Amino acid sequence: MCGIFGYIGTRKNVPGLVFEGLKSLEYRGYDSWGLAAPDKNGKLRILKNTGKIGDSRVDSLPDNGMALGHTRWATHGGVTMENAHPHLDCSGRIALIHNGIIENYLEIKKELVKTGHRFRSETDTEVAVHLIEEIISKSEKKGLSRKVLFGRAVRQAFGKFSGLNAVIAMDAESEVFVAAKNGSPLIAGHGESHGENFLASDAHAILPYTRRLYFMEDGEIITLDRSGITVQNLADGQEKPVRFQQIDWKIEKEDKGKLPHFMLKEIFDQPKILLGIAASTEVTLPEFAKLIDNSYGTYLVGCGTAAYACLAGTYIFSKIAKKHVNFSVASEFSYLIDFLTPKSLVIGLSQSGETIDLLDSLKKARGKGVQVGALVNVLGSSLYRMADHKQLLHAGTEKAVVSTKAFTSKLAYLMMIAYLLKKDGVSGRKILETAGREAARVVSSAYRKKIQSLAENLSSAKDIYIIGRGVSYPVALEAALKIKEASYVHAEGFPAGELKHGVIALIEKNTPCIGFLPNDETYNDTLSGLIEMKSRGGLIIGISNKPHECFDIFLPVVDCGIASAIPNTVIAQLLGYYLAIQKGIDPDKPRNLAKSVTVK
Ligand code: AGP
Repeated sequence: MCGIFGYIGTRKNVPGLVFEGLKSLEYRGYDSWGLAAPDKNGKLRILKNTGKIGDSRVDSLPDNGMALGHTRWATHGGVTMENAHPHLDCSGRIALIHNGIIENYLEIKKELVKTGHRFRSETDTEVAVHLIEEIISKSEKKGLSRKVLFGRAVRQAFGKFSGLNAVIAMDAESEVFVAAKNGSPLIAGHGESHGENFLASDAHAILPYTRRLYFMEDGEIITLDRSGITVQNLADGQEKPVRFQQIDWKIEKEDKGKLPHFMLKEIFDQPKILLGIAASTEVTLPEFAKLIDNSYGTYLVGCGTAAYACLAGTYIFSKIAKKHVNFSVASEFSYLIDFLTPKSLVIGLSQSGETIDLLDSLKKARGKGVQVGALVNVLGSSLYRMADHKQLLHAGTEKAVVSTKAFTSKLAYLMMIAYLLKKDGVSGRKILETAGREAARVVSSAYRKKIQSLAENLSSAKDIYIIGRGVSYPVALEAALKIKEASYVHAEGFPAGELKHGVIALIEKNTPCIGFLPNDETYNDTLSGLIEMKSRGGLIIGISNKPHECFDIFLPVVDCGIASAIPNTVIAQLLGYYLAIQKGIDPDKPRNLAKSVTVK
């Protein structure tokens, strides 16, 4: 979970160029940042700071056509300057950045300390750069160039690490980058001019400069300098052809215009996206319907918000298409795969397509011969590239760490596929159009004023409890996650039927209790749950198509059938957003989080 950007070439102001790249990657981790650039004597200069990049400047760094930058999400070692990447070896000629966890770093560090290496940080990363230095110092030079020695040392060091990692090492002496990957994403870009080459953790950061990209696979090591890019197998060092892809993706202007946050902008994007999905004529949709129809057991798998979309999918396929579809949280799925057969279908749901728990479990499932599908938002992501069948969410870039439009797009696609499975695409379009229009009403300023005042009312709440039944149960889970992530207020979503099995013990006077009561078979039983919460003093917030005397606060939602889950979710997103604003929190980059969880 970090942002990585490296450049070598002949452009001017390279530290500034790398810094701009880091800014576009900061959503991947923003505990600290750092850059390294070589001076004219082959020594590296470093600039680091804790916290977000903000208005920092890097023009104090030497500008000699090469620089490496990193934004960090802390795994090993606290958020301090010393722990910020890049890390230097003792000579100050090698810098290294890292994504992942070197599980055996302590035993390696012990050996390096014995041989005199001086460590400045508590990180596992720093072990890597000193190990490379140690291997070079012990290598037989016998006329080998520094570039070759350096590449070999990186490969040998990387082979000693256990865990899922990606490292980029930079050598100021030979002016070369060497990167090795086993887990986290790394993409190389080959510039047509300026003798330039790029490395980044996300393709979009490179596209403004070149569209010739190489997506590294696990078990590869790549060398970049001004002469070009070479790729080898990590295992045996054998060189392999570098098959660049000419990427023709549209580069989206990712700005929030006059809006204060990306999260609000992305909430506002939803009505248009939903109407777009309703009008979609993509052939991939009926293909997915057929896949699910023919599979011997379909699993929907994801993490966090994506997991809740998967759980919603089980209700959606049952209700609409009378189809049994299974669900698992991705981090648990690999403990469930023993009964999978080559006739099973596993569909990964993911906004980023880089969530390691999902990728890992799908790779293990693939070992059983299953077909892998993907409902994913990022074109070219690891999930997109590994899947046999893929459906893009077309939700546009989602920059806020708190996912919003990607969730409702997943719900919309699952509903469309279910209706196509039922051979009733027309009803699917209609219900999504209704939901898109209702979402537009919910994001209108008049409606948002109600949610803003609810947020003011709840801003001092210690706990918030959210109930729902049927597809409103995963909506309750997602609502709780939005509130927790964006505003740090503890919120718990759970099946309304579970209230009396324990949770009701927590309801006190004025405890905020939110209930989703769409006009369906779950209405009466969920209402009874709210009445019970009210009888224990709870402050009752009813989100429904009709008012009820039990509601202390009523948020009306037009009946959209099973798609009521979508405007209901938009209300929860806005509540999370306005609670964050109430508390002075940046909802785009909440503490301790990152947009894409690429370490286990
Ligand atoms: C959502 O608001 C969270 N940021 C998080 O739960 C996220 O949904 C989860 O990490 C999965 O991410 P993905 O969709 O990119 O795989």
